[in-house]
Amino acid sequence: MVKRKISGMEPVRWSDGQVEWILQNRIPWEETWKKSPSVEELARGIETLEMRGAPVIGMAAAYGMALSAHNYKGRDVSGMAQYIEKDRERLAKTRPTAVNLFWALDRMSRRLVRLIEDGGDVDAVMEGMLREARALQKENAEDSRRMGENGKDLIEDGDVVLTHCNTGPLACGGIGTSTGVILSAWEEGRDFRVVATHTAPLYQGARLTVWEFMKMGVPVTLITDSMAAYAMKNEGITKVFLGADRILLDGHVANKIGTYQLAVLADYHKIPFYVAAPMSTVDSKSSSIQIEMRRQDEVRNVLGKLQITMPDVPVFNPAFDVTPPELISAIVTERGVAKKPYGESLSSML
Ligand code: MRU
Repeated sequence: MVKRKISGMEPVRWSDGQVEWILQNRIPWEETWKKSPSVEELARGIETLEMRGAPVIGMAAAYGMALSAHNYKGRDVSGMAQYIEKDRERLAKTRPTAVNLFWALDRMSRRLVRLIEDGGDVDAVMEGMLREARALQKENAEDSRRMGENGKDLIEDGDVVLTHCNTGPLACGGIGTSTGVILSAWEEGRDFRVVATHTAPLYQGARLTVWEFMKMGVPVTLITDSMAAYAMKNEGITKVFLGADRILLDGHVANKIGTYQLAVLADYHKIPFYVAAPMSTVDSKSSSIQIEMRRQDEVRNVLGKLQITMPDVPVFNPAFDVTPPELISAIVTERGVAKKPYGESLSSML
């Protein structure tokens, strides 16, 4: 059997009292890191997709809370919680759909309350917040490996796996979610190929997924989003694998716009449709999902550079859609592979 080695990465990290992140909006043209001591700049980085992908948004928010604690240094501990709460509110306003953002903010807030109750000084609270953000990042990377292990046998020799948007190390840390499953099957020595969609209007598939798979030597072919039905019918697509930004307990999955249409097409062509996501993407509290509406110019222009339509045409630009559970064959998590009915399988994994 061919022995292959895959590797993960951490696209957001703590660096000397600042947060540092790789600028995903510059890939594949350049690999540039940005470093900032400002929570506001970090929040804008999330909004403008310098950092993106549900798990990485959560990690950025966790480091944002640690950064807020760090920026409070030299003052009295009594005002610390209030100071950090303001930054938390700013971070919570960045992107509404990926639940990992709120999951990470809640975890960091709970830690903050405990640290302050323990009676430590400002430095002790800051250290505790940084430890928590680092722990979250470490667990996330370990979970991505577990997801890969749990899902890798769903990919067999000869498969042609269609994926959408970007679910690799850039979006998720570690080895990624859905991409992590694909990479784990690749590491195992399986022979298959990947078909990646452009993912309009911001081209996460063309720019990021292709970049990641090509770097790791996994055969990948690029198609536009509108070629999916043709590719399923004529190009031998055998599986669809993608990620999630929020999963309701009943199995409704919010993911990058275009996911729902791929699920409908996969159902029509009788192709298994798999989702891979960590349990931090499962929202056990909500019964509906807020879809982020983004700027109209993202559709009027190609990546802010070339205007491709009339400048004032009205645009509809939802960043995500919701796929109903009946179209999803299974959901791979770090705790196992959830099958229908998802209400039962996901609840038992929580
Ligand atoms: O708008 P984005 O690029 O943050 O959207 C990302 C996705 O939809 C991913 O597929 C998702 O976060 C799942 S795994 C990272």
